[in-house]
Amino acid sequence: MIEVRNVWKQYDDQVVLERLNLTVKEGEFCSLVGASGCGKSTFLRLLLGQERATRGEILLDGKALPAEPDAHRGVVFQRYSVFEHLSVLRNVMLGPELSQARFAGRLFGARRRAARDAAAAMLARVGLGAALDKYPAQLSGGMQQRLAIAQALMMKPRVLLLDEPFGALDPGIRKDMHALLAELWREANLTIFMVTHDLKEGFTLGSRVLVFDKVRVDPQAPGAYGARITYDIPLERTRERASAIHLAQAAVQRATHIELVSD
Ligand SMILES: Nc1ncnc2c1ncn2[C@@H]1O[C@H](COP(=O)(O)OP(=O)(O)OP(=O)(O)O)[C@@H](O)[C@H]1O
Ligand SMILES: [Mg+2]
Repeated sequence: MIEVRNVWKQYDDQVVLERLNLTVKEGEFCSLVGASGCGKSTFLRLLLGQERATRGEILLDGKALPAEPDAHRGVVFQRYSVFEHLSVLRNVMLGPELSQARFAGRLFGARRRAARDAAAAMLARVGLGAALDKYPAQLSGGMQQRLAIAQALMMKPRVLLLDEPFGALDPGIRKDMHALLAELWREANLTIFMVTHDLKEGFTLGSRVLVFDKVRVDPQAPGAYGARITYDIPLERTRERASAIHLAQAAVQRATHIELVSD
């Protein structure tokens, strides 16, 4: 479904990513881990079509990625973007409304009620059923994050791009959101790219873990080299594999010095 071919990304003379090659099948769940600043968010922006690769190409279904982000690539970014002037419910209704009612930007009658019910149901699933009429400023950070997730999922994207989606959540809600995401992933055959700083989260949720790391470092020229994918670990969820996954996780942690955050 997605093919990344020899992709480089450079900002001025700073190389951020170099020689990325990757083939991802529909339905895979890729966890992206790596040190802060190594280019994970940049990579998501390339997948979204928000930015162009300096070199190389990204193919979606065998064709060059459209230059514009579209609804097929739902996105929850590190700094989630919800509309401050819209209620929680309206925030989640907005995407479907805009795509179904291209000219008016608003639905009426039965279609509006259907959109409202679908939005309310999604909000209930992310635990915001009691906050439909609140405004984003009245929500906690974790609630805003869940709102952003509901917003993205409403568009039934084929590819979901998540940039540290659970960073601001407390451990209990985080667990609930893990379960929800795993359920939605299986249900909708989503293809997911999720950046996380929590190795355990990455290994638990992903069907594949991609580690971004700088292999070469020149202290005289910090921008000379970018990060590459240094580990690409497929995870089969069988009992025998559980200990192998554990070993892989420990190896990645040693190699990258990424801290294990959660319990
Ligand atoms: N628009 C931009 N212009 C110039 N440099 C940029 C731009 N966006 C990112 N960078 C640089 O690219 C590098 C990678 O940034 P990026 O945000 O992709 O890292 P990250 O892996 O997501 O880090 P973190 O884990 O802290 O979120 C950083 O050095 C950053 O300063
Ligand atoms: Mg980032």
